[in-house]
Amino acid sequence: MRVLVFGASGLLGKPLVRQWPVDEVTGLGSQDADIRDPRRVQELVQQNRPDWIVLAAAYTDVDGCETNPELAFAVNRDGAVNVSESAVSVGARLMFLSSDYVFDGKKTTPYQTGDGRNPQSVYGRTKAEAEIRLLELNPDCCIVRTSWLFGSGGKCFPDTILKLAASRPALDVVDDQRGCPTYTEDLAGAIIQLCRKNAGGIVHATNAGDCTWFEFAKYIVGTAGANTEVRPVSTQQMARPAPRPAYSVLSPASLHSYGIEMPSWRNALERYMQRRAEK
Ligand SMILES: NC(=O)c1ccc[n+]([C@@H]2O[C@H](COP(=O)([O-])OP(=O)(O)OC[C@H]3O[C@@H](n4cnc5c(N)ncnc54)[C@H](OP(=O)(O)O)[C@@H]3O)[C@@H](O)[C@H]2O)c1
Repeated sequence: MRVLVFGASGLLGKPLVRQWPVDEVTGLGSQDADIRDPRRVQELVQQNRPDWIVLAAAYTDVDGCETNPELAFAVNRDGAVNVSESAVSVGARLMFLSSDYVFDGKKTTPYQTGDGRNPQSVYGRTKAEAEIRLLELNPDCCIVRTSWLFGSGGKCFPDTILKLAASRPALDVVDDQRGCPTYTEDLAGAIIQLCRKNAGGIVHATNAGDCTWFEFAKYIVGTAGANTEVRPVSTQQMARPAPRPAYSVLSPASLHSYGIEMPSWRNALERYMQRRAEK
């Protein structure tokens, strides 16, 4: 199997390229190919002739998307369309990484793959519109929705909490947004399995279990053995430019239908912290 990964220099892209055997995978960052440039994308896809293209490249700054919607749509929707058209032109399968932000967060039970999209933020709209365009262009594509990524090689929530915990006696963290933290190493493993199983359609892939950001932060601080107090606050008290879904737990049913199970987020966090401590 030959695989081309766009977004290989990102939080997810790094472990994805690391876990895939080197003779199968080619990883590209934005300096290799800006996905907004259809000719460059086409050139690289023609050169590589992949069986699978994994599109993990995106403008992922959720608040940045809110203030710069032109860039957000150009990369996340139009760039995805460029990659999809190139995939179709060489007969490659496409896997597109999408997000829990396509949902409005009003449910109180896990989101199923068939639940209606109703994004509340610009970032969520870019992903929702990309999903729709990609399914029109290439009904055979695989859309993997994930959430709350953490891992080494980039900015992530556990690192931020640990840095703050080292310098402050108390931290305020929102307790009214619930979702599924996901370790990039585990997600990379699931993506590789999905490609090998020739997956198609929409799949939800996150670590098992759910929590609020407050619960996540408390577990991070506890696992690190820090004395910092973690205090629950509301979203309203921590105003951000982009609205976040209050509830964005993704059901694992679609992943389980491929015989793939991901470990609990607590187990994932413990492995991440262990690895971080060894560095
Ligand atoms: N992070 C999360 O919590 C989260 C949650 C749900 C879904 N997702 C989705 O999962 C995927 C991976 O996310 P991530 O956290 O790994 O992202 P990330 O760390 O921000 O990495 C983004 C990647 O996209 C590349 N990129 C950005 N703009 C580009 C452009 N115009 N042309 C080509 N490449 C470009 C970056 O390349 P450079 O390094 O060269 O700039 C980098 O490799 C994304 O689709 C994201 O939307 C993420």
